[in-house]
Amino acid sequence: MYIGVDYYPEHWPRERWETDARLMKEAGFNVVRMAEFAWIKMEPEEGRYEFSWLDEAIEILGSHGIKTILGTPTASMPAWVALKYPEVALVDKNGRRTPYGNRRFYCHSSATYRYLGQRITRAMAQHYSGNPHVIGWQIDNEFAGPKCYCETCLKTWHEWLKRKYGTIDRLNESWGTIFWSHCYRDFSEVPLPARESSNPSQQLDFARFHSAQVVSFQKNQVDIIRELCPDHFITHNFMGFAPEVDYYDLAKDLDFVSWDYYYNGAPYDKRLESYMSGAASHDLMRGVKGKNYWIMENSAGVLGWETMTRNLRPGEMRRMTFQNMAHGADGQVWFRWRTSRFGTEQYWHGLLSHDGIPGRRYHEAAGVAKELHNISAHIEGSSVVSRAAIMLSYEDRWALDIQKSSETLDYVKHLMKYYRALSRLGINVDFINQGQSLEGYKLLVMPTKFLLPEETAENVKNFVKNGGILITTFRSGVKDMNNLPYELTLPGLLREVTGVRVEEYEIIYNSTKYDVLMDGKTYKAQVFADWIIPETARALATYNEQGLTGYAAVTENSCGLGKAYYIGTEFESQEPYNELVARAVTESGIKAYGPLPEGVEVMVRTKGNTDFIFILNHSDAEVTVNTPDGLELLGGCTIKGQCTLPPGEVAVVKVDKEE
Ligand code: GLA
Ligand code: ZN
Repeated sequence: MYIGVDYYPEHWPRERWETDARLMKEAGFNVVRMAEFAWIKMEPEEGRYEFSWLDEAIEILGSHGIKTILGTPTASMPAWVALKYPEVALVDKNGRRTPYGNRRFYCHSSATYRYLGQRITRAMAQHYSGNPHVIGWQIDNEFAGPKCYCETCLKTWHEWLKRKYGTIDRLNESWGTIFWSHCYRDFSEVPLPARESSNPSQQLDFARFHSAQVVSFQKNQVDIIRELCPDHFITHNFMGFAPEVDYYDLAKDLDFVSWDYYYNGAPYDKRLESYMSGAASHDLMRGVKGKNYWIMENSAGVLGWETMTRNLRPGEMRRMTFQNMAHGADGQVWFRWRTSRFGTEQYWHGLLSHDGIPGRRYHEAAGVAKELHNISAHIEGSSVVSRAAIMLSYEDRWALDIQKSSETLDYVKHLMKYYRALSRLGINVDFINQGQSLEGYKLLVMPTKFLLPEETAENVKNFVKNGGILITTFRSGVKDMNNLPYELTLPGLLREVTGVRVEEYEIIYNSTKYDVLMDGKTYKAQVFADWIIPETARALATYNEQGLTGYAAVTENSCGLGKAYYIGTEFESQEPYNELVARAVTESGIKAYGPLPEGVEVMVRTKGNTDFIFILNHSDAEVTVNTPDGLELLGGCTIKGQCTLPPGEVAVVKVDKEE
């Protein structure tokens, strides 16, 4: 298993490198990521390459048994690039070209910037293809926004639209440009949506366009490395729930996904929320490629640019590394080795502080590395198998960002209510894209499925008819893929499977939450209220609110061999989600280790007939979790039906299943 750090030898004197390599080796590290911000050191002036410093660093590390992952350096350009080629800097909505400084301010469409990026990538790939210590590549760093509104983007946008629509009439029809007389006569007339409240269909296409530009920017560099370094892996460092790029698309050209996980941004007593969104992010990062992933950056201490966060508590780094592994990580890289003395990130702490002396955090990481090496033979080759899935589509996120519907609707927050309920039950959860096969799943949660392609609606219907359990929510089935409302009574293409009709709806103001009655209890509802009329469905909850009495808020419907739940509002508290999801999970027949005590996670990795049950106790209490009999790999104890963990402790129980 690869375990290590992000390393910036260019920030430290050459005399220190040996010491660093020795300390890394002593910690049990065997990999570093380097060079992703070192363009100026590798190409100090145009076309002149300087790799000797990096060769030396790689060699010193290599002689200590430490392999290198190289980053292509395009996330931050040298000043000579910006000065010589001003057109590569992105232009904002107001037509202002971004001044030099910071990072990530290039235009993804710029042929010049792509060319410069490909050229340095090629030079690196040529130079390092035969280096025995180099094992892989990270393309660029944290692809995201911002979107660019330059002349090149405008031209590229026109070409993109032409490819997509063929004729301008088709575009006009697909966008509904007749509204406000925005019809175009030629592709060359179509602006970038720089104005507030531009046409929603145009905005959605622009979000797709931006994402596609990023994906093809990445592909340019991937192609070069594939050709020159066929034995090296290629990855990119993703950012969990970041919305700007369709991660399913970005993952396609890579060997595996990596991601950057920082979890100590909130006070320690609020940590469980951060951990939970981390857990969901892990599952999404596994989901976007449907396979195990790496952690390419991970909290190593206090974080901070201008201001700082709290520090990691003793044991926290260890526990969170096991969270990474529990959800499917196969590589562990901490950001960063030593806290920088330079630039914006002087307070973003590494395993070593500014003084470079190994301390508590270094020793904790070394301890974790040792434990991971001890169990790696067991868990290597294991994967996460899930019977429950949450459908997450970037197009829904974009469309809901363009038209939020309700000021308080937050796609990820809403989805997290379901995730939390599933996690509490201790079952594995996958994130899947629309259009993906539902085979193997027994439960599908499809929150706010705003844009609903016909094929997805059909798949979901068949899934339920064949015995699957579906949970879907308000603002589902509203629009087609052009971001135009269907000419159907809501929930449109989901009406048959959910057995409900939603003729009317409204937002719920934050100041006046609604009462909803379910199972004899009253819950507060927020964000949105579908006024549901059950057709074949049965009401599970009803509104108790002036004018809404008699309308259902939650329903269940049997359809074929399966069942569909429709939840037409958002509950303020977690409790009704826990109850509804528990019920759906029981019906689905999925084996659950929970309900778990608050702050406890259980995830299972499987290899052949062996399960590895990861149990994480993030809480301050001792907890007991029921498990099958097995062997706890970290402490070496035999487990008989139950595993008890002190506060902050983790366990990995190996269970051999019968054929
Ligand atoms: C990100 C980047 C790193 C570094 C850290 C800390 O995740 O990928 O280069 O900037 O944040 O700010
Ligand atoms: Zn541009």
